[in-house]
Parts: sequence; structure tokens; C-alpha cells
Amino acid sequence: MSVLDAGRLCPALEDIPVAFHPAAFKQEARYLIDGKIKDAAPKKILSPIQSKTAGGIQPYELGVTPWLDPAIAMETMQSAEKAYNSGLGEWPQMPVEERIKCIEKLIQRMIPLEEEFILRAMWEIAKSYQACRDEFRRTIKYAEDTVTRLREDDLSSCSVQQLNEFEAQIRRCPLGPTLLMGPFNYPLNETFAMLVPALVMGNSVVMKMPAWGAWAMDLFLDALCESFPPGVINVINGDGASIISPIMQRGSINILGFIGSTAVAHKIIGQHPYVNRLRTILGLEAKNPAFVFPDCDLELTVRECLQGALEYNGQRCTALKHIWVHKDILDRFLTALSDAISQVKYGMPWESDVMITPLAEKNKCAVLSNWIEQAQANGAGIINPGGGEHAGNLFYPSILYPVTREMELFHVEQFGPVIPVSSFSSMDEIAAYMAECPYGQQASIFTRSPALAAPLIDILVTQVSRINLNAQCRRGPDDLPFTGRKDSAEGTLSVEDALRSFSIRALVVANQSGRELFDEILDKGNSKFLRR
Ligand code: G3H
Repeated sequence: MSVLDAGRLCPALEDIPVAFHPAAFKQEARYLIDGKIKDAAPKKILSPIQSKTAGGIQPYELGVTPWLDPAIAMETMQSAEKAYNSGLGEWPQMPVEERIKCIEKLIQRMIPLEEEFILRAMWEIAKSYQACRDEFRRTIKYAEDTVTRLREDDLSSCSVQQLNEFEAQIRRCPLGPTLLMGPFNYPLNETFAMLVPALVMGNSVVMKMPAWGAWAMDLFLDALCESFPPGVINVINGDGASIISPIMQRGSINILGFIGSTAVAHKIIGQHPYVNRLRTILGLEAKNPAFVFPDCDLELTVRECLQGALEYNGQRCTALKHIWVHKDILDRFLTALSDAISQVKYGMPWESDVMITPLAEKNKCAVLSNWIEQAQANGAGIINPGGGEHAGNLFYPSILYPVTREMELFHVEQFGPVIPVSSFSSMDEIAAYMAECPYGQQASIFTRSPALAAPLIDILVTQVSRINLNAQCRRGPDDLPFTGRKDSAEGTLSVEDALRSFSIRALVVANQSGRELFDEILDKGNSKFLRR
């Protein structure tokens, strides 16, 4: 018998609490260029949430997003170039404090939009109410922390450093026109965690909306337009291959901030004619493993593995995507994880405590089912009752064991509620697996024993960028460096690191012969860079 109650997975509008109805938002396909909001050809936004109607099962229609042609996309690029004006534009030349005031204006304009963002994001990417609210609040805090940190840095960079016969002043400067592309799973947070530092450091930006989440992001278009001088921020959407290629081929993008697949990142970067000029800040694929030892606290381990693998359906770059269990605890772990999954709540994003919701990506249920079938054909079994059942776009979590090298699930970033489990019996096996794995974002270790954890930490720090002890992988808190090795990332993000990633240091240095001039400029205060 099916574990999924398919009847409640395609709710008719009258079955949905009125407070969560997708409001009748304006059907405008708007983009932002050179300080103006303009209309473009519209593309319909369909929700991953479906409704059962007389005509069959249909996705809810939400609104529209602009679908730009390459020529218009190129105009937005020119607008960013004009605003930057080779570093002499109003924005890159503006004192840091004034740029900070623009960010603060943006924050103030965004705060009242919290509920509307939650509603739109819930419908567009089927993320739970609670998770959408967390995403919004975390983004506002990230922006506030960024300006606080920059104020501190700017004060300290006013000091003059003395090094033997040299005196020097070092400041961070913008790099130039920046292309930002955030992901669908955190359309606001991951995009703004790049956008805010990129802007406040004096760069001009072309921001492409994510594939899903564009309708939610449209909400902030007026605030972006009104908070910055013309051309500093330009917002576009459209078919990535058609509109991003000409922008990259033009060669004037100096920073690419991209969160998405490794293959797409390579394609985009490869189109830039002067790759040496391009700073890349990339959040790419990951296959974060958990290593479970026999002496672990089983209850805590199962709870963390479950949340790590299934929060927002596993559609997080930091999700646990492969669980390695020592053979001496394997049966107990699989039974406990399977029992825990049977308690997980699935349903619509507005339902309280819901963890499993419809998947945002089109055809994702079919993709996951194919991987599961291929694993089964190669000897893996579905461990939990109902694992892999799906209805509409909702996919019931599935534990697969044993997952081995022959199976695609061993290698791919599944980005969905499928939990591949493999067993191990020695540290050497873990070391060999980690060395061959092309990804290197994070890992989790579950044990009570320093004698097990300590040598494993020493193996893992050569392969991943963060090791979590008795806890799932995650990005936060945002003051910690977020990065990855191998094919998982390039550059580092955190409140502080992002300010560095989106800027470059420049310095003015004087030895004996230049000291008088250096001091005179400081005294007179007639340089914007060299100043007290
Ligand atoms: O998808 C990647 C997100 O940045 C994950 O953030 O680990 O804090 O949920 P999180």
C-alpha cells in the first residue's frame, strides 16, 4: 500500500487556507537597466505545486518573468560598464560611507516585504513557510552585518602602516562590472550574499535571476532601482545560454559570482576572452559525506543525518548526500533511519513542520527514479517503506543500500530526497574514497571517540573545507568561511570574506624620497584614496 496520500498533494484552491493563496500580483515582466524598470517579453511562471481540476492535474500559474533577448541583455551590460566607467564612475568613486547608506536604504525598503517574499517563494520553489522566513531574515542580517564589518574595516584602513623605511596605506578597491547568478534553492539569500558585498565594495552589477525564484526576486526590483545610482545594479532574466554568452564574450565582466553546476560554470567562464582578468566566486556541486562509527550517539546521529539529507528535500548545496556507516552499526543505523523517515511530515509548504514538499525542478521525480532503478539493477535495495514513491512533484524519501561505485547515485549530486548509504570498515577505505571523490565541500563525523575523530579530521582537512563533529553539514553561521575544494567551489564567502572576494587591495607606498609628498597629501586631504 502506498505511503503517500496523493489526494492531498494536488490541492484545489478552496482546500488551501486563504492566508496562503497566491495573491493576484501584477502580471508584469520587468527588468532593471540604467536606473529604469522596463517591460519585456513575458514568460509564465508555473508553480511546482499542482492542482486537481476538471481538466486534469495542472500547475498553479503564478505570474511572469521577463524573457530578454540577447540584444537587451547586452544593453544591461553596457549600462553596468557606463556606471563603472573604468573605475571613475560615481559609484566606484563614492566614499564607502555613502555606499553603505545606499545598502541601508535597500535594507529598509526590503524589510516590509518579508511576508510577500515568503508567500511568493513558497509557491515558486515549494520551500516551507518557516524556511522561507529564515531565508529572508538571514539575508537581512547578512546585509546588516556586512555594512557593520565594512565600517570597521574602512576605519582601520585609514591608518598608515610603517615598515622599516616604508610607510603605506592599503585600501580595498572595486574590481569592476560583475555578473551574479544565484541558485533556485536560496534565490534571495545566496544571491544577496554576493550582491550586497559586490555593490558595497563599489562594483557595478548585472544580476541574472535564478531559473526558479525569479518571481519572488522581482519583489525587490523597485527597492534595488531606488537605492542605487543608475546602472549600478541591472537585473535581467532569460535563457541563460542565449543571454549570458554574449555578455561573457564581450570580455568586460571582471567578477563572476555563480552558484550552480560545475559544468555550467565551466561553460560560462570559458566564454570570457581574458580569463586572467576574471575573478570567479563559485559555489558548485557537492557530495558531502557523513561517516558514522559504532560508538556514536545513535539517536543524535540519525536526527542529524535525517535533517542533513532531507531539509528542504535535500535541495541544499550543503546537504548530506552520501552516508558511510561502519559495518558494526549498519543494521541498527538503517533501521533507526528508516523509522525516523516514517515520522517525517510531507505535504504543502504552508503546512506546519513540513519537511518534504514538491520538488522545484521540472522532471526531477523522473530523474531520481531513474537513478534509483539503476542502483537497484546493480544490487542496491530500498530500505524504507514507500521509499521513492512520488505523486505530482513530491518525492517520498528513499534510503538506498548498498550504494557502490557502479551506481550513478554513488557519484552524482542528487539534490533531492534520496539517501545513498555505503558501509566501511577501515579508515583506509575512507581515505581512498575521499581522495577519489571530485567534490570537496564539507563532511560530518559521528563518534564519541577522539581516537577515531582525530585521525579522520586529519584525513578530511586535506579533501574538504569544513568538518562537522556530531552534526550535519551546513553553511552557517555566516561569519564562518564558506568554501570548498576540488570541483565544489572557488573563492570564499562569509560576511568578512565576501568583502575581500569582491574587491582588490591597492596601496600607496613611500620610502624616504616619497614621504614628504605622502604626508602632505594626507594633511591636505585632497585624495579620495590616500586620506586619514
Ligand atoms: O545551498 C546552500 C545553502 O547556502 C545552504 O545553507 O547550509 O545554511 O542551509 P545552509
